[in-house]
Amino acid sequence: MAAAPAIRVRDAELADLDAIMALEIATFPGDAWSRDLMAAELASPHTVYVVVESGDEIVAYAGLSAPAGAGQGDIQTIAVDPTHRRLGIGTVLMRELLGAARARGASEVFLEVRADNPGAEELYRRHGFARVGVRPHYYQPDDVDAIVMRWEGAA
Ligand SMILES: CC(C)(COP(=O)(O)OP(=O)(O)OC[C@H]1O[C@@H](n2cnc3c(N)ncnc32)[C@H](O)[C@@H]1OP(=O)(O)O)[C@@H](O)C(=O)NCCC(=O)NCCS
Repeated sequence: MAAAPAIRVRDAELADLDAIMALEIATFPGDAWSRDLMAAELASPHTVYVVVESGDEIVAYAGLSAPAGAGQGDIQTIAVDPTHRRLGIGTVLMRELLGAARARGASEVFLEVRADNPGAEELYRRHGFARVGVRPHYYQPDDVDAIVMRWEGAA
């Protein structure tokens, strides 16, 4: 088995915006967040965004929204560069975000995942998320349902 590359996880900074947007556009073509929205997410006091570096390159990012005092959070996004998938990076990111959710006092975290993305759903299931609902036809124009998942943890 090939050795996993050395990676470093750290909090995202506004200076990472270009690299994050490059990954965002490549990962979610047609559905990517705007640069302004991503910048606002990175700057918000309610969010925690982390990036993964391999060498000098940012190869993954993920974000949580968990306003202090709300007791709840949402996984906003997660993306790993295609050449770095199935190496455990998504797992590392989910651990970071759920740790951050706990630290902010969130005892439940929600997310939406496309019904045609079973790989992501399995990643979330492995981290304790369970299906709580379906939003039919949520993703347009693709006309794909959204599966809503919830994680309950001790705050
Ligand atoms: C979903 C995503 C973040 C997973 O990242 P990753 O670094 O590959 O995840 P990991 O290597 O930590 O995978 C952990 C486990 O999740 C499951 N999993 C992850 N990707 C999977 C896939 N494509 N198919 C089936 N299971 C998958 C597996 O159980 C895997 O364990 P295994 O590799 O030992 O079988 C990545 O595929 C991605 O960026 N996809 C495009 C963006 C996206 O879909 N984001 C989610 C939007 S809701």
